[in-house]
Order: sequence, then structure tokens, then C-alpha cells
Amino acid sequence: MQEKVKVIIGDKTIELPVIIGSEGEKAIDITALRQQTGYITLDPGFANTGSCVSSITFMDGEKGVLRYRGIPVEQLAENSTFVETAYLLINGVLPTKKELERFSALLNQHSLVHEDMKIFYQNYPRHSHPMGILSSMVNALRSFYPELPTSSAEEEINITVTRLISKVRTMAAMSYKISRGHKVVYPHPELDYCSNFLNMMFENPVKPYEIKKEFVKALNVFWILHADHEQNCSTSAVRLVGSARVNLYAAISAGISALWGPLHGGANQAVIEMLKQIHAGGEKVSRIVERAKDRKDPFRLMGFGHRVYKTYDPRAKIIKKTCDSLLDTLHISDPLLDIARELEEVALHDQYFIDHNLYPNVDFYSGIVLRALGIPTNMFTVMFAIGRLPGWIAQWKEGADDPKWKLYRPRQVYTGPTTTDYVGIDKRG
Ligand code: SDX
Repeated sequence: MQEKVKVIIGDKTIELPVIIGSEGEKAIDITALRQQTGYITLDPGFANTGSCVSSITFMDGEKGVLRYRGIPVEQLAENSTFVETAYLLINGVLPTKKELERFSALLNQHSLVHEDMKIFYQNYPRHSHPMGILSSMVNALRSFYPELPTSSAEEEINITVTRLISKVRTMAAMSYKISRGHKVVYPHPELDYCSNFLNMMFENPVKPYEIKKEFVKALNVFWILHADHEQNCSTSAVRLVGSARVNLYAAISAGISALWGPLHGGANQAVIEMLKQIHAGGEKVSRIVERAKDRKDPFRLMGFGHRVYKTYDPRAKIIKKTCDSLLDTLHISDPLLDIARELEEVALHDQYFIDHNLYPNVDFYSGIVLRALGIPTNMFTVMFAIGRLPGWIAQWKEGADDPKWKLYRPRQVYTGPTTTDYVGIDKRG
């Protein structure tokens, strides 16, 4: 029996259907609301508004649950690789051995970037933020790889997906090398996805780079944990821009721009900058916590709080474990980790943080792992973007495959001046 809700407006009562998800989540379907009542709903920040139904990722913010296509992220972090998880998110099932080999071979085949892109990078304003460069360059991919009139829509999407997942990783490493004035390192066909990235980043002609298996494992876990997160800000940007039927490169470029923000993916860089400030003696932990609680102070505790998780972010737990094991195995000690642990301890016992359900999110410890891998701080959000690519693509594809794929066009409540006549310039004050 279809569950319904009643909406009573004046002497009019209408019934609206209730949608129930596979995990029991309930939503009121307001598709007919305006047409039946003339009313719309208002929900700044969309905290109470679902934009779509989706079968990709499930989050339970109260219980701290995260599953990709039903598989708990803890099991994927333990047993899977980023490439396999990307395949799962985009295709909906784990690949067979053959399918995984074929997908990996395709990623390798498309791992190079057009040589003219190097010139593009070399002429980009020096000291630009890598996220600004990445967003521009991903948008430029359409120009370097124009749509082939001979390929079908499906072939076009499949090759674009493969190009994005493989080339964005190459572009990130190339951007880093060029920014340092170093020789660009090309992908090696015999290296796996994560090993290739590390090699492209750190190999150099006079000092061969040793690819440590602990680094490869940590990078796989890092990217698996960042791979998707249902309708977050940047994914919503990809779906919204994609709904105008623009090419996928442009939609992904919009997602990269949204992720750049310090309230979103940019938080991983902001956390390290905050920890460095404390370490340099600029601020004390207790002072940082007090500032975060002061509503007159715009400062927020970076890496803490989440729109959905009202408990510990399950990804933060795994990242923290990865952090501990990576630093222990390699006998690396990072003073910022000690400060992060102290900050977490103080915040988690502070009534304000308890009352506001503020816990560490994925960004709180992820920067420490990236530092241990040797990734420069200003590339941390680029690392997040590479991880989130399969999720953005899967979510865009789910929208595009929907026969009722609608253009995103929210309404508003107008509060400006009512009809006002034009006043000639001579008659104005
Ligand atoms: C990511 O959506 C996703 O899934 C994102 C993400 C993903 O994988 O895609 O998980 C990745 O973006 C993680 C979040 C990274 N951002 C940060 O760490 C930045 C710091 N965190 C906050 O700015 C904040 O917690 C947000 C933006 C993440 C979420 O905030 P909301 O849901 O918009 O809630 P809000 O800003 O309305 O805050 C509610 C209350 C406020 O206090 P009151 O005015 O009600 O008294 O909580 C307070 C806020 O001041 N608050 C914080 C805080 N976060 C919220 N106070 C101090 N420090 C914080 N970090």
C-alpha cells in the first residue's frame, strides 16, 4: 500500500506520495506540490531536500555507515584497490578478473596526455593553486580530445570515463613536476595505477624512486575512501552542470571547482595549515578550540563536523589507522600527528562539540597520510579530486541514464521590490 502524507493548506487538503529507500529512508515526493497548491518548499543548503534517488552510495549519518554499491567501505579499504573500487562504483558490480584486467589495460592505454598540454601547463601563471589548474585543464580535455562523429554516444562516454580516470592522475603529477621545473615523468605500462602515480610524482633522473608497498597500500586506501559520498557539494555540482547536457569534462571541471572550497575538499589542506600554525607556536590547541566555539569568530575547526555524519566519520577512523600503521612501519614521526591527536582529544570532550555533534571527518587525518607520502600540501585537494572522480562519474552516469533526466532548476521565494517604474537619469538624486 503506497504510503502518503497529507498537506493541509487553508481549506484544501492534498495527499503526496512517500518514497521509501532500500534502507528504509523516507521522502515526501513533492513533484506535484506547486501544480496542486501553488506552494514551493524552501531549504537553504538543501539539508532536508533529496535531489534524486540513487543506488550508488549509502550513508547513515547517525550510525557512521558508508557503503559503495552495498559493500561497506571498511571491507573495500581492507581488500580492494582504487581501480577495482572505481569499476564497482561506475558499473555497479565488482569486476571479474578478466574485466579488471581489461579495465586496467584501458587505463594504461589512455594514461598519456596530449603533448601540447605540457605547453599549456608551462604557460599557466606560476604559483597558481593546483585545483585552479586542474579545473581548467580538465575542461580543456574536450578541446584536446574532441567528440568523434563516428563513435556512438556509449562509446564516447566510455572513452571519456577512461580518459578522465587515467589522465587526471597523469595531469596532477605532470603539473607538480612542471611547477618544480623538473622533467616530466611518463607513466610506465608495467606499473599499477597507484605505483604509477607515485613514480610520476617522485622519480627523477639522478635519484631513482623506490616505490614502497606501504605507500601504494596507503594511497589505495586514501583514494578508496574518497571515491564517492552520495550527494555532497561537488557531486551535486557535477549532476547540476551535467543536467544541462554539457560534455562530461565540463561537468567534472565544475565538480573540481566546488571541491576546492575550504568547507568541502579544501579542508584537508586547511587542516594541515592549522596544525602547522599550532606547531609553529602561533596558536595553542586550547585557543584553537576556543576560537572554533566563538560564534563571533568565523574560524572553524577544520576537519571537524559534517552535514550528514553526526558521529565519527567512518573514513576518518580508517585514515587514522592507516596513518598510524604507515608512520610506525616507516619509523616516521610527524609532530603534526601528535597535535592532531591532542586537538581531537580536547574537542571530543568539549561540551560545545558534543552538543553540536562535531567529530573528525575524512579531512582531519588525511593530510598526515599525504605528508608521509611526500605530497605537497597545496596538492592535497587534487588528491581528493583524483579519488572522487569515479564517484562523480558514477553519479553523473546515473543521472544521464535516467530516461526522465531533468535539467536542475530550483525555484526561489522572491523578497525584492514589487513593481517599480524606471526613473530617467535626470530625475535621479
Ligand atoms: C567534506 O558532504 C560531504 O559528504 C562532504 C565530504 C565528501 O566526502 O564529499 O564528506 C567531504 O567536505 C568534509 C567536510 C570538510 N569541511 C571541514 O572540515 C570544514 C569545517 N567543517 C564545517 O565548516 C562544517 O562542519 C561543515 C561545512 C562541514 C558542515 O556544516 P553544516 O552542516 O553546514 O552545519 P552548520 O555550518 O550550519 O553548523 C551547525 C553548527 C553551527 O553552530 P550554531 O550556529 O548552530 O551554534 O555547528 C557549528 C556551526 O558554527 N559548526 C562548527 C563546525 N562545524 C559546524 N563549529 C566549529 N567548528 C566546526 N568545524
